[in-house]
Amino acid sequence: MTTKTWLITGTSTGFGRELATLLAQKDGVNLVATARHTEQLAYLDQYDHGQIQKLTLDVTDRDQIQAAVKAATAKFSTIDVLVNNAGLGYFGTFEESDRDAVRYMFDVNVWGLVDMTRAVLPAMRQQKSGVIVNFSSIGGLFSFPTISFYHGTKYAVEGISESLAKEVGDLGIKIMLIEPSGFRTDWAGRSSQKKFPEIDDYAQFKDSIQWNVNTAHHENGDPQRAAEIIYDQVTNHTANLPLRLPLGQFATDTAIDKYRKTLKEFEALHDLSASADRPEA
Ligand SMILES: NC(=O)c1ccc[n+]([C@@H]2O[C@H](COP(=O)([O-])OP(=O)(O)OC[C@H]3O[C@@H](n4cnc5c(N)ncnc54)[C@H](OP(=O)(O)O)[C@@H]3O)[C@@H](O)[C@H]2O)c1
Repeated sequence: MTTKTWLITGTSTGFGRELATLLAQKDGVNLVATARHTEQLAYLDQYDHGQIQKLTLDVTDRDQIQAAVKAATAKFSTIDVLVNNAGLGYFGTFEESDRDAVRYMFDVNVWGLVDMTRAVLPAMRQQKSGVIVNFSSIGGLFSFPTISFYHGTKYAVEGISESLAKEVGDLGIKIMLIEPSGFRTDWAGRSSQKKFPEIDDYAQFKDSIQWNVNTAHHENGDPQRAAEIIYDQVTNHTANLPLRLPLGQFATDTAIDKYRKTLKEFEALHDLSASADRPEA
């Protein structure tokens, strides 16, 4: 078995931590576990026999990104799998959301992922292989009220990833989008700001934001199971890696339902849509 080096962003809690914990116990894996505060990664020490590297990494800091990729390749020669997991959320109506806060969310969820990916692509192109796992969300396919800007970040991740997959597929590099529904991590709790509506016209949405507060840490999704599925896909199904992997019952049902309905709508509009071209085309 050839050893593969995985680099994961945001391994302090949630999906990142579960994946790091799993990988730390696997044969044939070198693990680069990154976090804003590496003292939060002490949980890995019990598994470390020289195959684990902990690195400080805030994905909004491009100097830290360059330094982390350099340190990882200095220790393990290569990065075979990049997992862009770090991310956060924001609940609030579109009109009332705080501009600076949602811009920062784009910095983490979109630009952090972009800069990490650009930092590893040259080495992956050179070795003509690599897997990039990008955390999107079912919220990258389907939208709810009070979370518009989070959707914006994840739809951006979807579009960027789909296009990138077509650019690098022939170079031996695979992209996989992870689209979870609600999972029991810190995301809906400490990792998501909540701005309750103050404008009366939006008062009805207080309850849906409150619902997310109340259900945080009680979600159906199990991040440990998710980690096992991601590891298995990347390790044992590399040749047929899905571009999109919904995770959780709600995610898969919602994705299928959305595409079925959208297909019907597009088919019903087909002749009208096509009629917009110049007649000679
Ligand atoms: N849980 C869900 O229901 C769900 C559903 C769909 C998609 N997702 C996505 O899953 C991914 C992981 O989130 P999670 O659910 O595991 O939540 P989580 O437990 O809150 O973990 C989020 C991780 O991101 C890290 N992070 C935040 N900002 C960062 C930055 N600037 N630089 C580096 N790391 C940063 C956090 O580090 P700190 O400890 O330093 O804050 C933490 O390790 C996210 O992309 C999220 O959007 C989650």
